[in-house]
Amino acid sequence: MQTSLHTQEPSTPSAGISDTALLEIRGLRKWFPVQKGFLKRTVGYVKAVDGVDLSIQPGETLGVVGESGSGKTTLGRCVLRLYEPTAGEILLRDNDRILPVHQLEGRELQAFRRNAQMIFQDPYSSLNPRMNVLETVGEPLLVNNVAKGKELEDRVTEVILQVGLRVEHLRRFPHSFSGGQRQRIGIARALVVRPKLVVADEPVSALDVSIQAQILNLLKDLQAEYQLTYIFITHAMSVVRYMADRIAVMYAGKLVEVAGKESLLTRPRHPYTEALLSAVPRTTSGRNVKRTVSVGEVPDLANLPPGCVFHPRCKYAVDRCKVEEPALRELDGQLVKCHLAEQLALTGIGPSPNGAGRT
Ligand SMILES: Nc1ncnc2c1ncn2[C@@H]1O[C@H](COP(=O)(O)OP(=O)(O)O)[C@@H](O)[C@H]1O
Ligand code: SF4
Ligand SMILES: [Mg+2]
Repeated sequence: MQTSLHTQEPSTPSAGISDTALLEIRGLRKWFPVQKGFLKRTVGYVKAVDGVDLSIQPGETLGVVGESGSGKTTLGRCVLRLYEPTAGEILLRDNDRILPVHQLEGRELQAFRRNAQMIFQDPYSSLNPRMNVLETVGEPLLVNNVAKGKELEDRVTEVILQVGLRVEHLRRFPHSFSGGQRQRIGIARALVVRPKLVVADEPVSALDVSIQAQILNLLKDLQAEYQLTYIFITHAMSVVRYMADRIAVMYAGKLVEVAGKESLLTRPRHPYTEALLSAVPRTTSGRNVKRTVSVGEVPDLANLPPGCVFHPRCKYAVDRCKVEEPALRELDGQLVKCHLAEQLALTGIGPSPNGAGRT
């Protein structure tokens, strides 16, 4: 169990959530204790998520991108209360109420789980091999007391048809399905309770490239049909480019840039975003751009460098960057955490293949 730094005061729900946001995250932290020795003394913390503020509009897809180990999964799990946040607030609009998700317990937490679901990365390990499709997809309806018996079977049937599976699949077990079909089962399981918010954590990274587009298109179709709001987590810029309306770039547990997709892609403001974009294979002109940071240098989250945490890898770093942490601040409608954001003329890539995003 983590130490909670939450205040025990009742929440002041409407404080700060914007008029339109579905979800607002404030000062979110998740620190994992690092324990050593026989007595398991806590000698430090892995600051997996360290002070994240985000606001998500209904119906949008917010892409969260960053290298492996940057805290994306931890952020997604905290939002769904699959991890207990160490500190911070998570507020979800539920009709005319604002739910303080970070404080929910018991029946209220259960009700929240009907509103917010996760699609997991690995369709092989996320499904119970001993449960058939009907049991797997029907389980959230049972445990949340939404439906049972014939009604449950009808709802499961409806959703599996929507994700592109067939009625004869209902009694089959996960081992008889391909990776893409298993991910369809995972998606059906998430959607069967008709959530508003879905956190999709690398939903296609474990799949063959040939299958990825089908699953991404399915997620887009389902979003339109059910007015879903997605937090779409991925390490792949090309995937977020296809899916997102807005993109939040995460580095070492913090957001370093947040912007509408087209602005972020064509005019990145943070050197780390530029580096991620340099790994996208092609520009629209077909020209390959060289990677500007090497992999394998992700910082130790229990022992972060002072100043700007990106400075050891940043080719633009100046002395100030080594001692002073930049704030996440607004610049031309983008949020950016870099001292030099005004001065740098960074290289982006062309517009996304499916046209302009909504923001
Ligand atoms: N349950 C856990 N216990 C301890 N450390 C964890 C746990 N989950 C994640 N971490 C650490 O938190 C950091 C961020 O991990 P994660 O959120 O999985 O990043 P990402 O999804 O961006 O790859 C990593 O250093 C990881 O080792
Ligand atoms: S603050 Fe300095 S080190 Fe950090 S990203 Fe900007 S230029 Fe690079
Ligand atoms: Mg992850």
